Formats: sequence, C-alpha cells, structure tokens
Amino acid sequence: MDDTAATTADPRPADTPARDLSAVRIALIGAGNMGGPVARTLLDAGVRPEHLQIVNSSPESSRRAAEELGATAADSRAEAVQGADLVVLGVKPYQILDLASELRADLPSGALVLSLAAGTTLARLEETLGEGVAVVRAMPNTPISVGEGAIGLMRGSAVEDAQLELLHSLFAGAGVVVDITEEQVHAFIGAAGSMPAFVFTLIEAMTDEAVRLGLKRDLASTLVQQTVRGAATMLQETGVHPAVAKNSVSSPGGTTVQGLAALEREGVRAGVAAAMAAAAESSRELSKG
Ligand SMILES: NC(=O)c1ccc[n+]([C@@H]2O[C@H](COP(=O)([O-])OP(=O)(O)OC[C@H]3O[C@@H](n4cnc5c(N)ncnc54)[C@H](OP(=O)(O)O)[C@@H]3O)[C@@H](O)[C@H]2O)c1
Repeated sequence: MDDTAATTADPRPADTPARDLSAVRIALIGAGNMGGPVARTLLDAGVRPEHLQIVNSSPESSRRAAEELGATAADSRAEAVQGADLVVLGVKPYQILDLASELRADLPSGALVLSLAAGTTLARLEETLGEGVAVVRAMPNTPISVGEGAIGLMRGSAVEDAQLELLHSLFAGAGVVVDITEEQVHAFIGAAGSMPAFVFTLIEAMTDEAVRLGLKRDLASTLVQQTVRGAATMLQETGVHPAVAKNSVSSPGGTTVQGLAALEREGVRAGVAAAMAAAAESSRELSKG
C-alpha cells in the first residue's frame, strides 16, 4: 500500500500561466451544501458559466441553484451530461449508486465521473457505471468555499493521467489538493473532512471562555480566530515543529506553561485524538455498507 500522499496544491512553477479551463464542459448533479462550493471553485478556476450545467432534484431547484451560483440550469440530466468532459455527482451517498446506474446510458464516452459521496467505493462505482468508465472519488471539506480547504482525490482504474491533471487544475484554487488511496480516506476524514467541525467547536469554546474572562464577544471572536489562523500560518510558513513552537513560548513558571499543564490535565490532546479516530472509524464502517 502506498502510504504517502502526494501534495500537488499548485504543481505549476510560479511563472507558468494558469491552465485555460474555459473549454471544459461540466455537469454537476446535486448542487447542495458540498456541490455548491465545488461549483464555485470550478467557476473560479475559469470554467465558463454556460459550460457548468446544474441538475438538482427538480427543475425549480436546478434553476435556483444555477442562479445562485452563476451557472446554467439544465432541463434534464441527459441534457446536462451531453458533451460533458466531467460529470460531478453531488447527491447523498444513499442515492449515488442509483444515480450512477441511471447515468450509464447517457454518459458520453471519455467523460470523467467525479463522486463526492463519502463511503461509496471506487469498485462499487466502477461496477455500476460500467467497465472502462473513468471514475475519481473526491473527499473535500467545507473550507474549500473560501479557498482554504483540502481535497483528497482517489483515482479509479480507468483514469488517464491527463484526467487527473485536469482535476488538479480545476481544484487548485480550493486549497490543498492531494492524491490519496481509498485506505487513506478514513484518516483523511479524521484529519480534514470532519476536522472543520472539531476546530469550530474548539474556537467556540475558546471564545466563550474569553467572554467569561471579561472580553466583549466580538473582540473575543476576533482574537481567537486571528490567533488560530496565525498559529497555523506560522507553522506552515516556518516549517517549525509544533512542539518546538510551543516550547519556545513556555518560560519557566510562566503563564503559558501553567495553561499547557491545565490543558494536558483536562485531556484535550486525548479528546482531539478520540474525535479524529471516531470519524475515521465511522468512515470505515460506512464504506463497508
Ligand atoms: N457536507 C459536507 O461537509 C460533505 C463533505 C464531504 C463530502 N460530502 C458529500 O457530498 C455529497 C452531498 O452532500 P451534501 O451535504 O452536499 O448534501 P445536500 O446539501 O443534501 O445536497 C444534495 C444535492 O443533491 C440534489 N439531489 C437530490 N436528489 C437528486 C436527484 N434525484 N437528481 C439530482 N439532484 C438531486 C439535491 O437537490 P435538491 O436541493 O433539489 O433536493 C441537493 O442539491 C454527499 O455524497 C456527501 O457524502 C459532503
């Protein structure tokens, strides 16, 4: 098993112009909480609005989503996928195999299918879509909506290098795009897919305590969010190990070591690890279903 994930957030040298994606045709079936941010990312990457066809559960819903996103509503699923280079499946996991089976007849030859569904394996998608169909699974997280997310891509057996490169180009603006194996997706969910919710919870707790300590809520929010962002950016930009960064601000007997000791006594480290392990385990169970 390959246990390394290749990070190709932006594989281009700095002086290489961004790839022209204006000719790429995409059908998005299911523009909801995750399909919507994916659509925005595709448009930001240079996909033309008339080349991004949206299909939701009803014509009314398709029109509403397309208008909100600045894309085009398709009258039918068959119309949306006609001539598409990429078909993105953004429906709920329990719907995905029925949808894949219905799509089989309409899928243009050479089209790449991208599934956003958690838990539905490449083997099941490939079996349902038919032999030779190129399928990639994507595991995004919600911060892609602000260009600071993470997307793990899992490559199916019929996917050509150029098709995977196209996905990297389309999602380069979403944050970090990495190639992962299906075995790694469970850890990816713990470390990225479900992680925003864990961080939101920690930020909420820190903000509430800052208010209890006497700060106004808007000031508390600003300080906590800026500090969380700043700490992450510092590690990213300097490459310093978190333990080294932590030790460098811990003077003997000072305020920070007192706080750190309390953090360890309260089991915060173990709690975070347990949350990540529970999410990964749940993902593993889902993919058995
Ligand atoms: N939310 C996340 O954080 C997250 C993270 C990673 C992966 N995912 C994956 O993203 C996928 C979508 O989840 P979500 O949270 O975005 O769900 P959601 O908000 O409920 O969106 C589902 C979308 O599918 C559309 N839809 C339902 N039935 C359809 C049909 N028969 N034909 C065409 N479109 C149909 C819905 O349209 P209507 O609005 O008209 O019903 C809606 O736009 C799931 O597979 C999930 O595993 C989500």
